This record gives sequence, C-alpha cells and structure tokens, in this order.
Amino acid sequence: MRNTILEVRDLRTKYITRFREDIYAVDGVSLKIEEGKSLGVAGESGCGKSTLALSLMGYYFPPLHYTSGDIIVNGRNITALDPDTTRKNVLGKEVAYIPQAAMNALNPTRRIIKFIQDVIKAHIPEMSKQEVRELATERFRILGLPEKVLDQYAVELSGGMKQRTVIAISTILSPKVLIADEPSSALDVTSQKMVIKMLRDLMEKGYIKSMIFITHELPLLYNVTDDIMVMYAGQIVERGSAKDMVFDPKHPYSKGLMGSIIVPEPGTRELELVAIPGTPPNLKNPPKGCRFAPRCKYAEDECLLHEIKMKTFGEGREYRCKFSIDYLTEKYNNGKS
Ligand SMILES: Nc1ncnc2c1ncn2[C@@H]1O[C@H](COP(=O)(O)OP(=O)(O)OP(=O)(O)O)[C@@H](O)[C@H]1O
Ligand SMILES: [Mg+2]
Repeated sequence: MRNTILEVRDLRTKYITRFREDIYAVDGVSLKIEEGKSLGVAGESGCGKSTLALSLMGYYFPPLHYTSGDIIVNGRNITALDPDTTRKNVLGKEVAYIPQAAMNALNPTRRIIKFIQDVIKAHIPEMSKQEVRELATERFRILGLPEKVLDQYAVELSGGMKQRTVIAISTILSPKVLIADEPSSALDVTSQKMVIKMLRDLMEKGYIKSMIFITHELPLLYNVTDDIMVMYAGQIVERGSAKDMVFDPKHPYSKGLMGSIIVPEPGTRELELVAIPGTPPNLKNPPKGCRFAPRCKYAEDECLLHEIKMKTFGEGREYRCKFSIDYLTEKYNNGKS
C-alpha cells in the first residue's frame, strides 16, 4: 500500500466578517492523497476552493480562522502547531502553495535567482549562494526552463514563462504536497499545456510527492490529475477517478458542471451552452438540507430538510445526495431520450 501524504478529517474553517458574521467556506471537508497521486478540485466561483487551499497550509490570518478538524501531512497533524512553527517547518517545505494569479505577484524589478535565494534562506540558511545557484540551475534544466531565466527580471518574461518560473521557485524545496490554485487559467492554450506538463514532470521525477490542482473547469482536470473532487458551497459533493468524474459524474451538480461547458459534437454548428440554473447559496446562511437542492431539478421537499452525508459507492467513489445511484442514473437516462 502507498503512503498517505495528506489526510484531512472533517475540516471546518471560517471567515469572520467586519460585522461579526461567520462564513464557513470550508465546511466539513475530508480527503486523502497517497504518495505519487494528484487530486483535482473543481467547482463554481465562491465555492471555497481557494479557502480550502489556504486552510490546508495550516496558516490562518484573520479574517480566516480554523474551527475544527485535522490536517495530517506526512503523519504530522499541522493544526496542532503554532503559526511560527508552521511558517518555518511546513510552508514551502512540506506544503507549497501557488496562489491564484501568482505570476503577477513577482516583484518585476528583482532577478529570479533572488526569489530563490529568499526561499532557501528561510529554510536552509546554511546553504551558500553558489549552492543555491547550482540547485536552481539543475532544477531549471530538468524542468525544461532556460538557465538564463535565473538572471532575468520577472518583467522580461512572458506570462507562460513567468508561471512556470513561479512553479519552479515554489517547489525548489521539494515539498510533500503542492497546491496549485488555477495555475493555468490566465494562460493561452500552449502555455497551459506547458504548465500542466511541468506539474506532471515534478510529480514523475519525485520533486513533489502529491499535488492538488484547483480549477473551476471540471473537464480541464481530465489527463491532469488521478482523482477529482467537486466542491459546492464549502462542501465536497462528489469524488472519484478523473475518468469517472468526467465521463460518468453522478451527483446532479457534477453532472451540471460537466454540462455547462461546450463540447463540440460532429455535425453541430451551433453549440448550446447548458448552464446550471440559479446561483450558489450565500455562505452566511446556507440551505439547511442539501445545499444544492434549491437549484437541483431532481430535488424533492425532503432534500431541503435534512443534511446529507457523503456516501461511498463503487471503488473510491463518494457522493452527497439522498438518491441512490440507480435512481439518478435512470433519471439521467430518461433525460436523454
Ligand atoms: N476575506 C474574506 N472575507 C470574507 N469572506 C470571504 C473572504 N474571502 C472569501 N470569502 C468568501 O468565502 C467563499 C469562498 O471563497 P473562495 O475564494 O475560497 O472561493 P473559490 O472557490 O476559490 O472561488 P474562485 O473560483 O472565484 O477563485 C466565498 O463565498 C467568498 O465570498
Ligand atoms: Mg479561488
């Protein structure tokens, strides 16, 4: 059996607003990732993907607060650590995070090698500048980045090159878990592919032990991650292998998320964009029962009353819906005819 690199148990984290309102953007999330595996996280804007990423690093800045649950990285529960220990021993070293729009955060007037020196200095202060340079050169070479980039300024790099550079800098300490938040969404298709190839290379060459890839586009994750998890209103609604989730989603929301993209079919000129009706709930006051029920075309009165727990079915698959898989499959099949 493979080592479990990351295990999250019933994690709840919240924002406390200026008006003292609680917003549970991560509300009872559990997940597991084994060594060498990657997990994609998909869901509409505002469902809590970035908050989950921030929470998994175990480093909480107001207005984000930890409420309950466990985050176990390589056997160590990081929720039990104080912020200083987390910053020194976990961030960048155990869990690395590439924030949304990270490439725009690089100070344009510094050389790339300076950023790498800073990262290393924070964790391995005894490493000399020469050693840092050797490490960076070797890593850039293996990842297919030109060595000359080390001496360039961020402002001189194209968007795609900047993003790949950010990924190389963030993973220079070979973290156990890399969390990449929408790493390719602002890029053109060619650059997107290069970023994804680089992330896969990092995994295959063992520089990172596991990866979480966040996006709002479920189909993008096919061919990128082993498993996919769909989030809705701070909760996971379905998890399974990338293939199953893309080609055979079961939860009505995952089904809708797949349908809300344009899939060109031979012979069709006009392509229809199928959207999920309605808007996600306000997390200040989420629905009492199933959170998706107010938008779900299969919902019954009872769905609005009782909270639904995740249920397991098949191998490694889970979903959060009152209805059985057989019932849902029949509904979907009838919908087609
Ligand atoms: N600083 C904050 N203070 C209060 N609420 C916040 C704050 N940041 C985010 N939220 C709320 O938390 C919820 C989840 O936000 P989050 O940024 O995690 O969503 P997301 O899934 O990453 O969205 P996107 O796809 O747009 O990046 C949203 O409802 C948002 O309004
Ligand atoms: Mg986000």
